[in-house]
Amino acid sequence: MDSALPREAGQLLRDARRVVVFTGAGISAESGVPTFRDDLTGLWARFDPQRLATAEAFHADPDLVWGWYEWRRARVSRAEPNAGHRAISIIQNRAPECTVVTQNVDDLHERAGSHKVIHLHGSLFAPRCVAAAHPAAFAPVSGNATPDEGRPVPPPRCASCAALVRPGVVWFGEALPEAALTAAVEAAAECDVLLTVGTSGVVYPAAEIPGIAARVGATVIQVNPEPTPLDRVAAINVRGTAAHVLPALVASAWQETVET
Ligand code: OAD
Repeated sequence: MDSALPREAGQLLRDARRVVVFTGAGISAESGVPTFRDDLTGLWARFDPQRLATAEAFHADPDLVWGWYEWRRARVSRAEPNAGHRAISIIQNRAPECTVVTQNVDDLHERAGSHKVIHLHGSLFAPRCVAAAHPAAFAPVSGNATPDEGRPVPPPRCASCAALVRPGVVWFGEALPEAALTAAVEAAAECDVLLTVGTSGVVYPAAEIPGIAARVGATVIQVNPEPTPLDRVAAINVRGTAAHVLPALVASAWQETVET
């Protein structure tokens, strides 16, 4: 286990022509957005995914499910990107090619300056109707009042076909958006370095992405304070938090300072 940042990590990043950054909920933890599987604070420690994150749950109680996602959308809207997100946007600017692939449904990578972010699990900000997937609008988050986490909120109706509007996220049992998955797999299969940050690496098919890179000979660097199943895929495991380690990585690669 490496607790400090090995010098070779910065060198590998600087020398890479094609980089993939693969992120999970841990990248946003230091922005105050809860992860899913951390003990006590993780969303799945406090809420039952079967009641909130499946198509069946939405069918059974749309108000409960929509209200929970509205609570999450409000929380994310009030969060700010952290130094880890900013470091990734610098990596994207510095590397000749860099694709950011995230499992997160927040928009913190984009707000930190990353572009063309591939969202494997959809977005809190792209609701659509259940009947025909018409994109839907919703009220902007306003004021300081965060909706109560358990308060039911009726979902809006589609302006085109009057069907219920659902969150634009991937639920358990649903397929990932095909174009996003294909683009992520292609980027992983062509990269020299894959940096995986803040994911437990247990949700498939997303969790296969680092392994795809490793199989084509890319160096996988993992940043996570805890061990994960990806430890054995990664050539370099850095135990630390994203907002701490990623600015150090950028400094090591390009002597550039990330605003903290
Ligand atoms: P998890 O909650 O499963 O894992 C979060 C990971 O982040 C853990 O390995 C933590 O150790 C690590 N972590 C915590 N704080 C960190 C920090 N400050 N810096 C770096 N790492 C940190 O979240 P995901 O792996 O993203 O799916 O979960 C994958 C999918 O499971 C999610 O996209 C979601 C969930 O069910 C859907 O909603 C479809």
